[in-house]
Amino acid sequence: MSHDTISLRPATARRGKALGGDVRIPGDKSISHRAFMFGGLASGETRITGLLEGEDVINTGRAMRAMGADIRKDGETWIITGTGNGALLAPEAPLDFGNAGTGCRLTMGLVGTYDFSSTFIGDPSLSRRPMGRVLDPLREMGVQVTSEPGDRLPVTLRGPRIAAPITYRVPMASAQVKSAVLLAGLNTPGVTTVIEPVMTRDHTEKMLRGFGANLEVETDAEGVRTIRLEGQGRLVGQVIDVPGDPSSTAFPLVAALLVPGSDVLIRNVLMNPTRTGLILTLREMGADIEVLNPRLAGGEDVADLRVRHSELAGVTVPPDRAPSMIDEYPALAIAASFAKGETVMKGLEELRVKESDRLAAVARGLELNGVDCTEGEDWLSVRGRPDGKGLGSARGEAVETHLDHRIAMSFLVMGLASEHPVTVDDCGIIATSFPEFMDMMAGLGAEIG
Ligand code: S3P
Repeated sequence: MSHDTISLRPATARRGKALGGDVRIPGDKSISHRAFMFGGLASGETRITGLLEGEDVINTGRAMRAMGADIRKDGETWIITGTGNGALLAPEAPLDFGNAGTGCRLTMGLVGTYDFSSTFIGDPSLSRRPMGRVLDPLREMGVQVTSEPGDRLPVTLRGPRIAAPITYRVPMASAQVKSAVLLAGLNTPGVTTVIEPVMTRDHTEKMLRGFGANLEVETDAEGVRTIRLEGQGRLVGQVIDVPGDPSSTAFPLVAALLVPGSDVLIRNVLMNPTRTGLILTLREMGADIEVLNPRLAGGEDVADLRVRHSELAGVTVPPDRAPSMIDEYPALAIAASFAKGETVMKGLEELRVKESDRLAAVARGLELNGVDCTEGEDWLSVRGRPDGKGLGSARGEAVETHLDHRIAMSFLVMGLASEHPVTVDDCGIIATSFPEFMDMMAGLGAEIG
């Protein structure tokens, strides 16, 4: 579905009563994409429960089907029969990834080294995003690339007869780039090495190991990680229970912190340390977040979170924390708008190339709703209004979401604690990552419509 042909669906959030209740967060998007990809590639059967059924992940499933995987659903379980490593089929039509950078970039790695052509397309947001970060290492491996200026979509890849293994130092903190190179290594003879100077989410490494890949990780004294993957190994289908998405958790969590009197239990949250930067930061700001029932599920840390309304105070968030909360800055900026004093967020250069230029989108949205903030090249500072007075838009002006689900959800959360309502120009895009958002928030007592 192309988003320039569908109409935008505005939504407005208003201040109301305290939020309360008990919710279960839908599956993690990063793990869900990988579950479809690795299940579709492995030999035999993969069974997935808790999969995120958002548009982004469904597009990845369609792409895997187009390359030979059998994917069906039986009750609550997705059952995939994979092609076997090295045996993907040439897709007959362009692969459409919609809004999803992860689906698109990881699949470029997965199929790019095959000796056939594959074409990648997406919605206007994805078509504006840089693909060179993945295409450059693929070129080094011998892949021929056709792309639009600036290495934008549509992109067509054609692998060599035999791809060359490389050693690649990832130039920016990006789990997508790391993953794309490792996935390209799966169909390449010899050892593909990725050097990761700053650790990012490690789902690819953990899950590939689970599927039987021969993959080693070494971390030096400075924290630089060297990941070595032996190519052309056998991958075998697995049983995967996907834990709840910490990035989706951010929205009910921040809402509960901001709306006076709230007390919310959020169940089944992935607590992998590469994903918990927001919880750490909010706690430093004074948030009452209780971690209950910590447990291991499918090799990942998982817990339930009890969140109560809290008086927050501004903090400085250091740049080295960015990878562990990269998708959570819009939600944090909303929390900061209600904190006492100033919150400074540093090291945000990657926010410029997300589903929107998130640094600019957040700053414009905050300004529109009466928040005093400053946007730097790679930083944002927010001066909060703990009482929420004057926040929101008395004139009902809408925040521009730029096809960015997290901008839409963040500003709807803002409206729940602001003096005036907050309107976003589109809530349809939320279905890419969190189709249950509106119903879940309504269930907690939020007034969004
Ligand atoms: C993701 C990596 C991050 C993140 C995205 C999901 C992943 O992107 O923002 O939502 O699943 O690997 P970058 O690799 O661009 O940082």
